[in-house]
Amino acid sequence: MSYGNQKLIVSPTLVIVPAPASGTTRNAFAVFDYLKKAFAYYPCETLHWMTYFRELHSFREARRAHPHCPYETLCAEIDDLVEAGFLITEEEYNGPLYGAYRQNWKWDLTTALFHFTVTDNDFHSEQDASEIVAEKVAHMPQPPLAWANAGPAVMLPPIPDSVNEPLYSTIISRRTNRTSTAHPVTSQQLGKCLFAGLGITGEVETPSGWLPLGVTPSGGARNPFEAYVIVRRSAEISPGIYHYSAFEHSLGRIDAELPDRLSHFFANQEWVDDMSVIVVLTAIFERTMWKYEDPNAYRVILIEAGHIAQNIMLAATDQGLSACPTAALSHTGLRELFGLEEMTHVPLYALTLDKPLPYPDRIRAGKATHQVKVET
Ligand SMILES: Cc1cc2nc3c(=O)[nH]c(=O)nc-3n(C[C@H](O)[C@H](O)[C@H](O)COP(=O)(O)O)c2cc1C
Repeated sequence: MSYGNQKLIVSPTLVIVPAPASGTTRNAFAVFDYLKKAFAYYPCETLHWMTYFRELHSFREARRAHPHCPYETLCAEIDDLVEAGFLITEEEYNGPLYGAYRQNWKWDLTTALFHFTVTDNDFHSEQDASEIVAEKVAHMPQPPLAWANAGPAVMLPPIPDSVNEPLYSTIISRRTNRTSTAHPVTSQQLGKCLFAGLGITGEVETPSGWLPLGVTPSGGARNPFEAYVIVRRSAEISPGIYHYSAFEHSLGRIDAELPDRLSHFFANQEWVDDMSVIVVLTAIFERTMWKYEDPNAYRVILIEAGHIAQNIMLAATDQGLSACPTAALSHTGLRELFGLEEMTHVPLYALTLDKPLPYPDRIRAGKATHQVKVET
């Protein structure tokens, strides 16, 4: 009994669902703690403890309240739930994980369930991923990846791609090119990319005060993103880890050691190790949560990451660089690297920056002709 005389309570982040019928009542339901990502099956009887410990009780109180339950059974069942992390002590309930969650997480259960469940996922190795796709291609037709109009359609004027229309020429040239020429990214290049994504260009007066306006739209002008910048090669900036303040348009150095290899923060994608700079977009959830407590706000934040990233990619392209996006992150690893302690400060999306080699041969420009479905 590691908990001694401490009072116990059921974890506030449990979901309980019926298990698939298997002809036995041993595994009647499944319990999942989404904050710890702990999962187990239990028989029906265990539901009783989940109900009893919705309020704080010590083991002694539990024993007194269950005079017909043999002592050994009581010990074994409660110990098992404590060990699995589904019953926690009062101290843990009020501690840094559950206490912070109860105090700071304003969105509902479904959002929390999704968010914490997809935090720190396991990713396939590149080889496993290619084998899985090869297997799928062989056995499962994929859905059409673009739709064409059939019959009478209003043809729109062609998009100009000449240098006289630099916006469109940049949009058309953007490509995820994961090769590197070990280019020392200049502070001018980096500054333009960061400004294009996160720059603050004004403010607006609202009932909740003056709010920042930026180069990309933000739901409710809540400006939920900050950027952390890992510099490996730069003409003027020393290698290290920095916070980009859009407010000042400055890089503040963080007191953290620059790891030799960074790919383990990015699902072991080896191409990341070659890149000169990595920009990690980090959401500060409470900025948006403060105003919007409905779970759609979570979706808004994810959408905003896309706006910011696209502008960074276009600014990179415009300067002869490639910005490669990746959402395959080790969230906790990056939070530790950047010294982010709040669970609502979440690295969500990253872009590498470097001058790439020319495109590989298998990329061709122009319209897609494969995987197109003609709408009728
Ligand atoms: C949200 C998002 C996440 C991505 N994550 C990865 C990734 O983890 N690794 C990777 O190599 N590419 C990643 N990509 C890049 C895509 O593979 C790439 O955009 C796609 O192949 C199309 O190529 P293009 O960007 O040149 O148009 C991601 C793209 C997006 C939009």
